[in-house]
Amino acid sequence: MKKELKNLMIIAMEARNFSYCPYSNYSVGAALLCKNGRVVTGSNIENASYGATNCAERTAFFKAVSEGEKEFVAIAISGGAKGSESDSFAYPCGVCRQVMREFCDEDTFKIIVVKNEKEYEEYLLKDLLPKSFGPDNLSK
Ligand code: THU
Repeated sequence: MKKELKNLMIIAMEARNFSYCPYSNYSVGAALLCKNGRVVTGSNIENASYGATNCAERTAFFKAVSEGEKEFVAIAISGGAKGSESDSFAYPCGVCRQVMREFCDEDTFKIIVVKNEKEYEEYLLKDLLPKSFGPDNLSK
């Protein structure tokens, strides 16, 4: 794996430290690599009204898009019990996959789920969200 993506994995693991997860005690960190080389982080932000919770991946995407970023290469995601090293892969939820689909090329955008520097899995968006509905469906 390229050094840039290894680095992205480390940033995602670090972003877990900023998770606000007093209800689930499950912290998630994400690091989103923009085409221009910028990395935007995100963490899950929970709410006493549970449905208002925002996932780490969407935090990263919404931060990035709201700051003018629109082209993305990859996202690294790491999740697990708050305060401990991740011991399972935190695959992105369906809503987060759909948000990725809005902004990313399904054939090239990489999703890397990370337990630690040695244990990770890499997918393309089309693998995790096959036969999807996207912007093209509405542009004809
Ligand atoms: N969570 C994420 O941040 N990303 C996902 O893709 C799945 C779930 C968060 C939401 C909630 O704060 C906690 O994990 C437990 O569901």
